[in-house]
Amino acid sequence: MRKPIIAGNWKMNKTPEEAAELRRALVPAVKDATCDVVVCVPAVCFGAVKAAAEGSNIRLGAQNVHFAPSGAYTGELSVGMLKACGVEYVVIGHSERRQYFGETDKTVNLRVKAAVAGGLIPILCVGELKDERESGYTDAIVEYQTRMALSGLTAEQVTNVVIAYEPVWAIGTGLTATDEQANETIGVIRKAIGRLYGAAVADAVRIQYGGSMNPGNVKGLMAQPEIDGGLIGGASLKAPDFTAVVRYDA
Ligand code: 13P
Repeated sequence: MRKPIIAGNWKMNKTPEEAAELRRALVPAVKDATCDVVVCVPAVCFGAVKAAAEGSNIRLGAQNVHFAPSGAYTGELSVGMLKACGVEYVVIGHSERRQYFGETDKTVNLRVKAAVAGGLIPILCVGELKDERESGYTDAIVEYQTRMALSGLTAEQVTNVVIAYEPVWAIGTGLTATDEQANETIGVIRKAIGRLYGAAVADAVRIQYGGSMNPGNVKGLMAQPEIDGGLIGGASLKAPDFTAVVRYDA
């Protein structure tokens, strides 16, 4: 059985003070969660978030990582730097990075490999654009992105990666993929993993849904057999909403 994993992606929101406040509210609210709980916060909030929930079941995540261990890469953060701050998970290949910051399947792969080699758990994002879904390319796109991102990893390493299926048209739009659409596309990703790494890996790897997931739709999505959790943007910024998502089965 795969343990569900629900992660908040705060994107470019919150100061350290606001972060500490949110996390303090979350700590008691999600302490009995049956899923893994992660918050992927801006780097300036790492310290505040870590301190506010020392000893809790909330794990710390980052939103990107560079693939070099150190060097002349102004503005970037390495795996070692993230780990030194207590980060355990890192979002890689988010569609906003692909769309606005020139992220490619190649650089996604470099980041995934560096994260895995350094002991961080990638939350690898894949997903199709609206046009691509409408033209019938969804399966081909998510398979290609997944295959490219994981290239060079061993089957054992892939088992530990978390994949987030985020249809780009559903992010921040209030449009959610239907339970069936999300389940079906995640099934496509799982089958692709099975072909590449074997049935046991496909069976073990956790695949989240992301895109306007909220307290109102989480239950239906999580009831789908292929969906192992969520990557939550907007609804992760308010403690009551994120709590309701994390406690979808309460
Ligand atoms: P929203 O939940 O705001 O649609 O964002 C989803 C997302 O991009 C999470 O990474």
